[in-house]
Amino acid sequence: MRRAHKLGHNAPESMANKANSLEALGLHLKTFIAEPGADAIPVWLVDSLEGGILDTLDETQRAWVESQNWQPGPGATLLLPAKSGAVGGVLLGTGGDTWPKDRPLLTGLLPTSLPPGDYAFAGDLPDAELACLAWLAGSYRYTRYKPEQNAKPARLKMPDGLDVDKVTALAQATYFGRDLINTPANDLGPAELETAVRDLANTFGASVKVTEGRDLLADNFPMIHAVGRASDRAPRLIDLTWGKADAPKLTIVGKGICFDTGGLDIKPASAMLLMKKDMGGAAAALSAAFLVMQAGMPVRLRVLIPAADNNISANAFRPGDVLQSRSGKTVEIGNTDAEGRLVLADALSLADEEAPDYLITFATLTGAARSALGPDLPPLYSDDDEFAEALQAAGTETGDPVWRMPFWGPYDEWLKSSIADLNHISQGPFAGSITAALFLRRFVSQAKRFAHFDIYGWVPRATPGRPVGGEPQGARALFAYLQKTLGKAEG
Ligand code: BES
Ligand code: MN
Ligand code: ZN
Repeated sequence: MRRAHKLGHNAPESMANKANSLEALGLHLKTFIAEPGADAIPVWLVDSLEGGILDTLDETQRAWVESQNWQPGPGATLLLPAKSGAVGGVLLGTGGDTWPKDRPLLTGLLPTSLPPGDYAFAGDLPDAELACLAWLAGSYRYTRYKPEQNAKPARLKMPDGLDVDKVTALAQATYFGRDLINTPANDLGPAELETAVRDLANTFGASVKVTEGRDLLADNFPMIHAVGRASDRAPRLIDLTWGKADAPKLTIVGKGICFDTGGLDIKPASAMLLMKKDMGGAAAALSAAFLVMQAGMPVRLRVLIPAADNNISANAFRPGDVLQSRSGKTVEIGNTDAEGRLVLADALSLADEEAPDYLITFATLTGAARSALGPDLPPLYSDDDEFAEALQAAGTETGDPVWRMPFWGPYDEWLKSSIADLNHISQGPFAGSITAALFLRRFVSQAKRFAHFDIYGWVPRATPGRPVGGEPQGARALFAYLQKTLGKAEG
């Protein structure tokens, strides 16, 4: 195979080249936050007009609300006049609940619908952290190629007593993941993904080891090599570690397919269009890692990212090939478009060798996951009921929803092959997300807990707090779970 150029081609100033992309993200975020002393326009969350909200307004504003015949439906907003004629307040309807459970990031619709200015939440705010995070998440724009967007944003003044650093970190981790996914494949290949990991590692004092190109064969990652060898951008396994060696081991594996053509089983144009997002699992893994390191969690964190292009070339792997895996199991290739599970399998084998306490995968693994639950609700798999339920609950509470689906044992035999230890796909059209998850599970035996998130990694229709584009789904859910379970590091 050919060696990749160090920075990939067509990447004169790759994202990773920019001195410190994380610092830039922090500055970017600051443009959405008002000065602590700022005079801010009050924003009320309104579940009902009976609840006394009208009493807090002045006479003109009350008359205004009545004359508009405004009702507090979910997401309904109303600007209130001040005596001067300026905007004097904002009502945001919640649709009846004090907090809209179906739309946990509801306040995220405000920054793009309000005129420029400084705003602050007023009245009772059941979850100030989530309300403010949603605001910042909803302010996000992908500005790399069109920087002038959102130059005069509506800014939020953070409420007193809020852990601003935590909210900022949550938003920053989200931005970091979104930027990675939104960056097109010409500017984000395996090398640039590696540089992004190195940036993250440098920020938090983590170390990074990379196994690249033919070294993947020498070090026994044959399936990562087989999937990635048809690209002139060398495949690699990126291995980040952070934290005390004797702390509980948390290992997160993220699918890092920088572009998925489908390989020789080429995708039709409509299915290939979005495949820059096929490193969405890596983005979610890195977003979660950002949060874990930023919070100083008492874990030994490891992030493994098999990074590769699934490309078409004379040396591409083929349908019908039998690959040797790191685990020793032989794998018959049923379809070269099911590449993600192959690169993940070798990474999972490595992860499993040290029997981690928590082993998590994030991957844009199957179209079938979207058929089952739609783009906004990623399936989550785990054999550990307590772990799965706690992860799902943490996701619901933090507005990063995931939904448990089963590792349905009886389907495991659908992965059999007559000439190899297993096939990596099943023959029929059924339960594609489950069979992909079952394939991954074949490579995990020693980890204490294993969970797999089959994410879409993309928002096709904007919802509050989630603009159209990349989304590192599941990262905040995992982080919230870990915070509950492990607490913060002492000191
Ligand atoms: N990256 C895709 C899965 C995908 C497609 C995720 C669209 C999100 C949106 C994956 O590599 C893939 O192509 N999977 C195939 C597997 C099939 C060939 C067994 C799929 O889901 O169609
Ligand atoms: Mn594919
Ligand atoms: Zn893929």
